Amino acid sequence: MNILVVGGGAREHALCKKLKQSAKTEKLLQIPYSKAISEIADSREISSLDFEKIGSLCSDEKIDLAVIGPEEPLSKGIADFLEKKGVKVFGPKLRGAVLESSKQVAKEFMNRHYIPTADFKIIYDSSYAKEYLKEKNKYPVVIKADGLAAGKGVRICFNEEEAFSAVEDFMEKRIFGSSGSKIIIEEFLEGTECSVMAIVDGKTFAMLPVSMDHKRLRDGDEGPNTGGMGAVAPVKLSAEMTDEIKNEILWRFITGIVTEKIDYRGVIYAGLMITKNGPKVLEFNCRFGDPETQVLLELIDEDMGEIFMSAACGSLIKEELNIKNMYSACIVLSAQGYPENPRKGDEISGLEKCSVSVFHAGTKFENGKYFTNGGRVLSVCALGKDLKEALDKAYKGAEEINFSGKHFRKDIGAKLEKIKAD
Ligand code: AMP
Ligand code: GLY
Repeated sequence: MNILVVGGGAREHALCKKLKQSAKTEKLLQIPYSKAISEIADSREISSLDFEKIGSLCSDEKIDLAVIGPEEPLSKGIADFLEKKGVKVFGPKLRGAVLESSKQVAKEFMNRHYIPTADFKIIYDSSYAKEYLKEKNKYPVVIKADGLAAGKGVRICFNEEEAFSAVEDFMEKRIFGSSGSKIIIEEFLEGTECSVMAIVDGKTFAMLPVSMDHKRLRDGDEGPNTGGMGAVAPVKLSAEMTDEIKNEILWRFITGIVTEKIDYRGVIYAGLMITKNGPKVLEFNCRFGDPETQVLLELIDEDMGEIFMSAACGSLIKEELNIKNMYSACIVLSAQGYPENPRKGDEISGLEKCSVSVFHAGTKFENGKYFTNGGRVLSVCALGKDLKEALDKAYKGAEEINFSGKHFRKDIGAKLEKIKAD
């Protein structure tokens, strides 16, 4: 079959690498253009949001399956658009994608289907928000802008002053535009955060190994929130906890989409807090996580072309995937100034002699050399027989690559090692 991967970051680079290995893949195309991805796929300069051009590419190249990486094209209806053109799509349609693009929709969906989540209140008016906060007077509290805010629309507020300032930023100053027209004020949950992804065909699912992202920029979970500075997998939970995740989160999600007639084929990604009262959903994403995908795909011992196509056709061929008995780690190298104002144009060296898998995100190729061209520049990934070996190899790779302003966290996986030791 002919496959198109939409998206040009490290997650899509990893998806292309995996799909290239599929016995079913005849042609593999990818947009928008990435020099690094062009080494393994036919990479074209078409925007992920230019649906008309994507539609023409699909008919010209006889694309059978489109695999969508980022949330933005999904939240603008790429799956609905391409399905009408006769392309099978791995990625949900609008009514499914809105579970990521509106936190209100996601929270109300969770309540309707008894999916455990933090208690919350949706608020449309800033003076009422302040009254509500005064009345509750319980800190910390979490304040979220309803819509997409590039991962910056969540504030954990430790006192009234911080909470009022979040309300003012989101609702009055509208720092995220209309994404702040509604806010969610929610209970602060304590516990261990992890990411659960499952491949969904509309009526059933295959759960992927649980992984752990590292969202803050600096070691010890300090500094601003980012898209993710590194990941490790698997996070081995008890059989009881895994059953709770399957039964109370994933099966209830499936019941929800079936009863509400939401045609959801793709990945559901639940950001979880494992609390002392069980797992609770912090957020839903309607796509693969980045950088979690870079660690997970390396662990899965399956033909993912076949798996994605079967899910896109509504008849997933496997509910239990074969997983390698190994650990996987990813270190993200970010640019100077990330996340606020990443510097571009620094020359990258050492890529050719790097001993592990490297997936490109913010890079550009000019005159035979790679340069930084975005915040998260590269994902450096390795497998190992245990977590330490995976991390040692990935960190060795991270040291082999250089560019001015290179930043990476030195404590990826440390929390997981601690949980295992406890
Ligand atoms: P979200 O975009 O909703 O996943 O939130 C971003 C980050 O904020 C999460 O990864 C958590 O670290 C934190 N967070 C969100 N909601 C809560 C909550 N209710 N309690 C504690 N931390 C939270
Ligand atoms: N790693 C977080 C995300 O993909 O949203």
